[in-house]
Amino acid sequence: MAPLPPKLGRWISRGVILGERTGSLWRDLPSGTGRGRRPPAGTVVRVDLDDTAARLGVPVEDVDRVHRLAGDQPSAPLPAKADAPAILDRLGVRPSDAAEIMAGWPDLDSPLWTPELRWLLDRSIALVRADLGGHDWLSPGPELPRERGPAWRHLYAYAYLALVDVVTAYHRDHDIADAVSWVTLADLGRNLAIDRRMHREGWPVMQSWLTLHARGGVYELGRLQHQRGGTAIGLHIPESGPMTPEAVAASLDEARVFFPRHFPDERYTAFSCGSWLLDPQLLEYLPEDSNIARFQRRFELEPYEEPEGPDADIEVLRFVFRTLTTPLDQLPRRTVLQRAIVDHLKAGRHWHWRRGRFPI
Ligand SMILES: CC(C)(COP(=O)(O)OP(=O)(O)OC[C@H]1O[C@@H](n2cnc3c(N)ncnc32)[C@H](O)[C@@H]1OP(=O)(O)O)[C@@H](O)C(=O)NCCC(=O)NCCS
Repeated sequence: MAPLPPKLGRWISRGVILGERTGSLWRDLPSGTGRGRRPPAGTVVRVDLDDTAARLGVPVEDVDRVHRLAGDQPSAPLPAKADAPAILDRLGVRPSDAAEIMAGWPDLDSPLWTPELRWLLDRSIALVRADLGGHDWLSPGPELPRERGPAWRHLYAYAYLALVDVVTAYHRDHDIADAVSWVTLADLGRNLAIDRRMHREGWPVMQSWLTLHARGGVYELGRLQHQRGGTAIGLHIPESGPMTPEAVAASLDEARVFFPRHFPDERYTAFSCGSWLLDPQLLEYLPEDSNIARFQRRFELEPYEEPEGPDADIEVLRFVFRTLTTPLDQLPRRTVLQRAIVDHLKAGRHWHWRRGRFPI
C-alpha cells in the first residue's frame, strides 16, 4: 500500500501530489476509471475518508477497510462495452438485468459515475484481485444505497465483470476446462435474478458470496458448488431444481477427481456443509425420502452452538420464500416445506444453522 503522509492520517491520496511527493494511486488507475484526466502537476487532489463515506452513504469504517485492503494493488479493466452483452449472456445474466447493467455502464463521461463511485469500483476490483486464489469469505466493499441508480445498484457486478478475465486466466493456469469456468461464473446471473425476485433484499450477502467465484475459490460441478479451503471441500447448493441423490452423488464424484487434478497441492479428507438444510428439526415435517432428508443423512453433524453467524430463521426465509421481510401470515403455503417453516416459527420455535461433514 502506498504510504500516506502521517499528518493526513485518514486522507485518501488519489493521484496525490503533496509537495514533492507523488502518490501512486493515480498511476495505477486503469483507463476508464478515476476522474478521467490526470490533475496538473502540483495540484492537490485528495478526498478524506469521512467525505467519501458520506458521499457513498456508507460507514467510514467500510471505506477505510477498502482503502487499507486495496492499497495501491493493481485493478483490472472492464471488458470493452461492445463485448459486454455477449459476456453477460455467458454469465447467465437475464435480459432485464443485462439491460440495467448496460444502461449504467461506467463510460468515462458517464454522469452516473461520481468520482467516489469510480474510486470504489477501481479499489474493489483491486481488493478482490489481491486475494486471487483465496477461498475465505471476503466482502468486496460497503453495502451501497442501491436505489440511487444502476451505477450504485450494480457496482459490484461491474467489478465481477472486470475480474472475469483475471479469474479465467487463473482457471487456465490450473488447467480447468472452459465449461467449468463459465458454468461457475454464471452464478452471477442466477444471483442477480434471485435478488430481483427478492426486491433487492438479497444482494448484501451475494456481493460477498460472488467474490469466491471471482477469486477461483468455488467451482460448480454438476448439481453442487464446491468451495476450496482447509481439509474439507465446502458444499453449496444453488437453486437449480431438485437435488436428487443421484445428482448429488454425481457431483461429489466429479469433485473427487477435480480437486486432486487441478489443485494437487491441496489435500481434502472430507466434504463439509453449513446450512439450514442440515437442521434435523426439518425431519419433523419432511418425508423420509425427501431430497433434503436424504442429503442430511450423508452428514455427521457438529454439536449445535448458538450462532454467531447467520440467523437461520432469516436464512430459511431467504432460501424458501426469497424474502426477508414478509410477515409470516402472508407467506405462501404451497409446499410441505413452506408450511413447515411457517408453522414452526409461528409456534415460537427457531430454525438452526447446522454444520456437518462426511469423509471424502
Ligand atoms: C435445496 C433444494 C434444491 C431442495 O429442494 P428439493 O430437492 O425439492 O427438496 P425435497 O425433495 O426435500 O423437498 C421436499 C418438499 O419441500 C419442498 N421444497 C424444497 N425446497 C423448497 C424451497 N426452496 N421452496 C419451497 N419449497 C421447497 C418441495 O417442493 C417438497 O414439497 P412438496 O412435496 O409439497 O412439493 C431447494 O430447497 C432449493 O433450491 N433451495 C435454494 C438453495 C438453498 O437453499 N441452498 C442452500 C443454502 S445454505
